[in-house]
Amino acid sequence: MSRGSEFVVVANRLPVDRIVGADGAPRWRRSPGGLVSAIAPVMRRRKGTWIGWTGAPDEELEPFEEDGMSLHPIAQSAREVELYYEGFSNATLWPLYHDVVAPPVYDRAMWDAYVGVNRRFAEAAAKVAAKEAIVWVQDYQLQLVPSMLRELRPDLRIGFFLHIPFPPVELFWQLPWRRRILEGLLGADLVGFQLPGAAANFVRLCRRLLDARYVKQDVFWDDRVVRARAFPISVDVGELNDLVARQDVQERAQEIRADLGDATVLLGVDRLDYTKGITQRLQAFGELFEDGHLKPGQAVFVQIATPSRERVEQYQLLREEIEQQVGRINGEYGEIGFPVIHYLHSSYDRAELTALYLAADVMVVTPLRDGMNLVAKEYVACRKDLRGALVLSEFTGAAAELRRGGFMVNPYDIDGLKGTLRDALNAEPAEQARRMRSMRRRVIEHDVDRWAQSFLSELESPERSRAEPAPV
Ligand code: ADP
Ligand code: F6P
Repeated sequence: MSRGSEFVVVANRLPVDRIVGADGAPRWRRSPGGLVSAIAPVMRRRKGTWIGWTGAPDEELEPFEEDGMSLHPIAQSAREVELYYEGFSNATLWPLYHDVVAPPVYDRAMWDAYVGVNRRFAEAAAKVAAKEAIVWVQDYQLQLVPSMLRELRPDLRIGFFLHIPFPPVELFWQLPWRRRILEGLLGADLVGFQLPGAAANFVRLCRRLLDARYVKQDVFWDDRVVRARAFPISVDVGELNDLVARQDVQERAQEIRADLGDATVLLGVDRLDYTKGITQRLQAFGELFEDGHLKPGQAVFVQIATPSRERVEQYQLLREEIEQQVGRINGEYGEIGFPVIHYLHSSYDRAELTALYLAADVMVVTPLRDGMNLVAKEYVACRKDLRGALVLSEFTGAAAELRRGGFMVNPYDIDGLKGTLRDALNAEPAEQARRMRSMRRRVIEHDVDRWAQSFLSELESPERSRAEPAPV
């Protein structure tokens, strides 16, 4: 019998996507995105197991090996996808944790499905983890897993990292199952957040809702110390450097620029999500033409929007709104041969995204709320040439690190956004270089490898997690 894995990652999705190969046969390919590139190297080094869902309903698969990782698929029925993934995860928690920018749905059947699927993940982790193994649970879809897992396997060292914001007491209070979620998280030894403010919100909630004792960011719960700490996630700078150095990527960047004529290029790259402030940025851009500050052919906006959560109503409404908005702005201000917005509703590979970053004069990142925003950091990591300007929302986690070099905006303030877009468009090369240098210093020093290492060394530090609860 196998001894089990010493290192287990539990995430809603597996780190691989199913694709159809050139020969027409289905294959797996590593999924893009920060989470996978952050954790995949640690997984390989530690010979870990990744527990997650394949992304398709009703798919029962045996564990398999791929890209040097042991993958352990968890099935979800079509109804669970609807109630747990599209429902409680993305129609309840997602808007609640993002400042209620859309109304959260509170539905008991969705909650029941969330509990059921979280239990399945916890049971799978309990089965595959070796004695006293490290288990690292990821994100808002799985907040009950830490306590469920602890009940099954008290010997494990359990870490949890929340990739999205954690809301203030006043908003979290709305949630009918607020105690259960907090108790779920408190099953971990270490609960990681993107920002110190989120960790403080969590500790405050533990005190207000559960009457838990705490000292600074250590919460005393069930004769254990649960540490709440901030670990701002980052990007794989090495991988992006390699892409930037590729001749085909440089050529592709030049080709994109040539296709866009002499226009200054503004770029947005997002999942098509209502938290990303896409309509606000397009409105501000359109008004610059209306006000006569820009002329067709002088500037062009390339908005890449990856399809996301397409069966959730708010995402469908957003897609319609953006499509109408792009049509209206192009209809009003575009000229033959000079549309003012290029809108692409599609996903791209890393090389194409890198070429887009290199082609963009102004990167526009305007979320209404975002846990971090890796796109902002990817742009900075790619601009070794010290050119380009980053317009960055104050409501992103990235703002805490990049505010000195970014052109900071409040995306709710359309006039302010217009002014900042103009400042970014008019920035002289010397100013661009000064700002970019300061942002690059931060991103290069704090890359994703450092993020993973700092979380895991805090989780593994034995003396503190075994500490006796101190009197308050
Ligand atoms: P979120 O996690 O909310 O989607 P982030 O900006 O933190 O937002 O991370 C998004 C990740 O997805 C980035 O690594 C980015 O490069 C990638 N991405 C975004 N849009 C696309 C796209 N159209 N095609 C491929 N990858 C994309
Ligand atoms: O960070 C937010 C997040 O939901 C991740 O958990 C997930 O990997 C990513 O965004 C994409 O979301 P989804 O799995 O719903 O497509």
